[in-house]
Amino acid sequence: MRSGTATTSAAALDRSKIAELTRRELVRFGERTPRSSEYYDRARRVMPGGVPSSFQTNDPWPVYVERGHGADVWDVDGNEYVDFHNGFGVMCVGHANPTIAAAVKAQVERGTHFAAPTEGSIVVAEELRRRFALPQWRFTNSGTESTMDAVHVARGVTGRDTILKIEGSYHGHHDAVMVSVYPDLEELGDRDDPVSVPYGAGYPRALTELTRSVPFNDADALGRVLDGLGGQVAGLIMEPAMMNINIVPPVEGYLERVRELTREHGIKLIFDEVKTGATISPGGATRRFGVTPDMITLAKATCGGFPGGAIGMTEELAAPVADGTIHQYGTFNGNPLVMAAARATLTEVLTDRAYAKLERTNEKVLAGCDELIERYRLPAHTEGLGAKGCVVFSAEPIREYRDYLTKVDDDLSTLAWLYHMNRGVFMTPGVEEEWTLSIAHEDEHLQRYLDAFEAFSRDVTAA
Ligand SMILES: Cc1ncc(COP(=O)(O)O)c(C=O)c1O
Repeated sequence: MRSGTATTSAAALDRSKIAELTRRELVRFGERTPRSSEYYDRARRVMPGGVPSSFQTNDPWPVYVERGHGADVWDVDGNEYVDFHNGFGVMCVGHANPTIAAAVKAQVERGTHFAAPTEGSIVVAEELRRRFALPQWRFTNSGTESTMDAVHVARGVTGRDTILKIEGSYHGHHDAVMVSVYPDLEELGDRDDPVSVPYGAGYPRALTELTRSVPFNDADALGRVLDGLGGQVAGLIMEPAMMNINIVPPVEGYLERVRELTREHGIKLIFDEVKTGATISPGGATRRFGVTPDMITLAKATCGGFPGGAIGMTEELAAPVADGTIHQYGTFNGNPLVMAAARATLTEVLTDRAYAKLERTNEKVLAGCDELIERYRLPAHTEGLGAKGCVVFSAEPIREYRDYLTKVDDDLSTLAWLYHMNRGVFMTPGVEEEWTLSIAHEDEHLQRYLDAFEAFSRDVTAA
């Protein structure tokens, strides 16, 4: 884990200059992406918001991508970018990876779907068992399905209804977890008894109220909630390091204490490793932080760019799934193409050496950012874990969602995003994310990021 220290005396920033630079960069963005604008007009006629998923929307319009290779992507205007978005943290293997392509092509020739188990699913489950400390695995088609099924298993096995989650965390788009995802400051309520806020419309109130939230990095607050509610809680679902409000690492001893408390109260602990699982170590956060939950949910980078996910569980939790007391279903679960991609990803591409490289590469770009933050006295610091990293525009460390809301400078985050996009660095739509590197990222790719960040740093601090 790597946290850069924030500058002790940040430069005073001129807000009117930030606004002026943002206007200038937005014009430049428009000039660089006219075809994306045309695609957007066309797409809006057939897809709400012009996108297949609302997370792909972006102001003023999404950048429509044509192709990718290695660490690069090209948009429909022909702009080439170094990819720091990497498909929302999926493409650690690099775009058009030849090993994955060969494995999938070979499977295409042998049939693409049977809805019957194949050897591929056994091999992938064996490899997940080796990497993570949990013995039994089932497959899904996305992170949302993984967390949805994990919640069902926790409820099914305990006979309890309430689910606990961390305030300000995202775990996919099913009803039980679309609660207190990005609530506004005024909606949050008391820190010791946060309000359950539905994330958008369409969630029955009764279901929303069955999900309660607690602040991240505060085991005492969790303990107090459990003293009141403990006997009603089926499971606690959490990312071991939060990754949807930049990166918020766990403080020393926090995960260990959460493990103890959940055990004491008979609550199933679910580590949502959809983001961390295949990116921050061979055995995700579970291995990196050395705390073993009752269930692990995976998706994203695990299947090397194919839509798949998995749930790991203890033998105790696997028994009612195996005997049909708890239903875990899906026509495409363990699809042979996805399994071929996952097998190649986990056994041939994302090897221990690959993780060591990802760590080294990330370290270089983070160190470069730290140097610029220091030189230009920016109110910012870096966070990094494995293939993932970010610049957090706050002079103080962020420990939980309430810090994120009150301490991060949104204007700077937005402007930095525009600087990167306009200088050939492809970033996630949404400044609250982090970057994900791939094994194809080399020094020249990192330099592109650092050059854009330097231009930004110079311009915002210029007298
Ligand atoms: C931590 C976490 N869990 C679950 C999900 C949902 O995954 P998917 O988008 O594959 O449904 C996400 C997606 O970003 C995530 O970040």
